[in-house]
This record gives sequence, C-alpha cells and structure tokens, in this order.
Amino acid sequence: MRLDKFLSETKTLTRSEASKAVKRGEVTVNGAVATKTNMSVETTDSIAVRGRVIEYSEFRYIMLNKPEGYVSATDDKSAPYVTQLLSEELQKFDLFPVGRLDKYTVGLMILTDDGKLAHNLLSPKHHAEKVYRFRCEKPIERTDELEAGIHIEGGYLTKPCKVKVLSEYEAEITLTEGKYHQIKQMLGAVGNKVVYLERIRFADIPLDPSLERGEWRMLTADEIKTLRSQNK
Ligand code: URA
Repeated sequence: MRLDKFLSETKTLTRSEASKAVKRGEVTVNGAVATKTNMSVETTDSIAVRGRVIEYSEFRYIMLNKPEGYVSATDDKSAPYVTQLLSEELQKFDLFPVGRLDKYTVGLMILTDDGKLAHNLLSPKHHAEKVYRFRCEKPIERTDELEAGIHIEGGYLTKPCKVKVLSEYEAEITLTEGKYHQIKQMLGAVGNKVVYLERIRFADIPLDPSLERGEWRMLTADEIKTLRSQNK
C-alpha cells in the first residue's frame, strides 16, 4: 500500500499531513528517510514518524470493564456512552460495542471495528456464550424453569440456558442469546427482581480482573484467536 495510505489508515496523519511530514524528512521506512509520499510499503515494514514506530493492524479489539451509567453506544445526547471511555487515539477509529449491556449493567464489553467478526459473534447461528453474575431482591428459586426456557415479553420463549446458584441471592447465568433486558425479564417471570448485573465472560473470554470499572485494554493475540474461533 502507499505510504500515505498506511499513515492515514493507522490514524497517524491525514494524507496532506503525511505529504508535509515526508517533505520535512520526518518519516522513515525501515530506517531510511522516505522521500515520496506515494512510495509502496508493506504492513510489516518498520515505519516511524518523528522516531515513533507505527504499528499496523487492520482491526482493533478492546476489552472494556463497563461502569454503571454508560450506554452501549457510539453516540448519545443524554447519557455518557462507552466509546467515550477509550483514549483519544482510539476514538479516531470507528469502534463499536459487540452487543449491548443495559445502562446499569457492568462488566465485560468487547469493542471492535471489525464488523464481520462482530456480526458473526452476534448472529443467532453462532451465538456465543455470555456469562453474567447477578444478585436478586429475593432468594433465587425456580432455576429449573429458567434453565428450560421461560416466556418473557411478547410471549418469547427463551432458549435453554445454565444457572449456577452461588448463594441465596446470587447466581451465574450462561446465555447464548441476547434479548432486550433478558436476564431482568427472566427473573421477573419467576417473581424476582435483579438488583445487580455484571457480565463476567464473553465467548470464552473472561473479564480481566485487573481492569477497574471504566478501564480498558487491547485484547491479546490469544483472545483475538478465541473470538475468531467462535465463528466456525
Ligand atoms: N440481560 C439484562 O437484563 N441486561 C443486560 O444488560 C444483559 C442481559
């Protein structure tokens, strides 16, 4: 690809900034000063601007520990939204959350600009497992009904799922689908009320315990491989 394309795709410089930087001798390719903005480069080349090496990756994959009060969106007029928690540099990319968490749900959220992977992870055909920990107002009962599938809003019968009771008021639930307010609705259908909800795992990737609420990190190469392997 062209050098200026490399620099604009990595959100390092716009094409016109790239041309100026090249003229000023600020860009190097494998250690040699670049003289032409349209020179051909490989994504594996070591390209630096003012000494800073620019890593190329086609897509970005981020793990965020979503705090309460943020909406799972890329824009919102009335509430803070999750992409605002990312660095200024990352906010230049078209990152979006893979699936939604309610405003008051916390925990693991994956953000990416890889539309195809996100689509596959969310498609009913491949529906990836998601594990949530929740606390209820009343003791947790009728888990066999929840596991078998239960009627929620609009008469929808939820798919079979797993419920692991942790204590009188707390449990973990593994879902392979994501209907609107699904867990709240399911617990509502058995006469209970969810008072705390956290996603702790998404498609075999656990929430990194070192991330505080509101913190994020890039996914590791192994985690990206795990996400891709869900698409088979
Ligand atoms: N179920 C809910 O009720 N809320 C979420 O955010 C996710 C699953």
